[in-house]
Amino acid sequence: MAKIRYVDHLGQETELEVKPGTSVMQAAVNNGLAGIVGECGGSAMCATCHVYLNEEDMDKFPPISAPEQEMLECTTSPLKPTSRLGCQLVVAEGMELTVYLPETQQ
Ligand code: FES
Repeated sequence: MAKIRYVDHLGQETELEVKPGTSVMQAAVNNGLAGIVGECGGSAMCATCHVYLNEEDMDKFPPISAPEQEMLECTTSPLKPTSRLGCQLVVAEGMELTVYLPETQQ
């Protein structure tokens, strides 16, 4: 299993244990977590799964692809160097991760 800690814009934390191979977006949606919408179902087409990572977690995932970068430029909340689309962040066995949710996704 992997552990994802979601911190919303008010600092409220939710920790989820998720199966490896699950994305940060899918785990949030499956658990009814507010703050991630995942409108397109994970195909990097909507930008409603925008999250911020800790800098030290950035290299746990493959680099941002061109389609992801394009979508990140459409997010409603400010784009930061640690911005990613949650649907493109697939966790591996034993991974522990904290993601920060923007104030709004739409
Ligand atoms: S769920 Fe649509 S871009 Fe991630």
